[in-house]
Amino acid sequence: ARVVVLASGAGSNLAALLAAHDDPAYGARVVAVVTDKPDAGALEHARTAGVACAVVEPQDFETREGWDRALAETVAVFHADYVVSAGFMRILGAGFLSVFGGRTLNTHPALLPSFPGAHGVRDALAYGVRVTGCTVHLIDAGVDTGPIVAQAVVAVEDGDDEATLHERIKTVERSLLVEWVGRVARGGLTVDGRRVVVGTPEG
Ligand code: GRF
Repeated sequence: ARVVVLASGAGSNLAALLAAHDDPAYGARVVAVVTDKPDAGALEHARTAGVACAVVEPQDFETREGWDRALAETVAVFHADYVVSAGFMRILGAGFLSVFGGRTLNTHPALLPSFPGAHGVRDALAYGVRVTGCTVHLIDAGVDTGPIVAQAVVAVEDGDDEATLHERIKTVERSLLVEWVGRVARGGLTVDGRRVVVGTPEG
């Protein structure tokens, strides 16, 4: 399956997908990286891997809707079967979702529905939870509210700050994302209400 990755940051999740996609058995191929930030570290990973890149900056558009439409058109150029948002710090609007809804996955560094939004790690730490984790979910019109595909638990350690906790989460998050993008790519997904069924049950 052809996957376009949306990323705004360092791109370690993208790097993990790029490391996996060379194996033909994986089933997913990252065909492009699209970002809203021309200086995103993710672009370096894409260039190193020889993967196409595109930058779609909100400031170049009069309205959010205009940017959202341009983002969808850009992703469509690469004939994406699935879109993976990995540290993409923008909300995908109705225009984008009318084209790619139901096949856009996001990874969030908390156990949704707890701690949605841009500061999930900080909020979980501040709340005093003993465990947090990460979530792979389908993107819907809300913020981190789409049907859940997979989750993994990460312990909060004494002395953690946002950075140490986020690093520990990202270690787990990268492998969760790689595993489930592969399963979706190989076996597809169906959504029944809030239940997501991915591919055929693999042994
Ligand atoms: C990830 O933890 C993602 O869940 C969050 O931002 C982080 C991005 O990390 N939204 P990277 O850019 O993939 O290294």
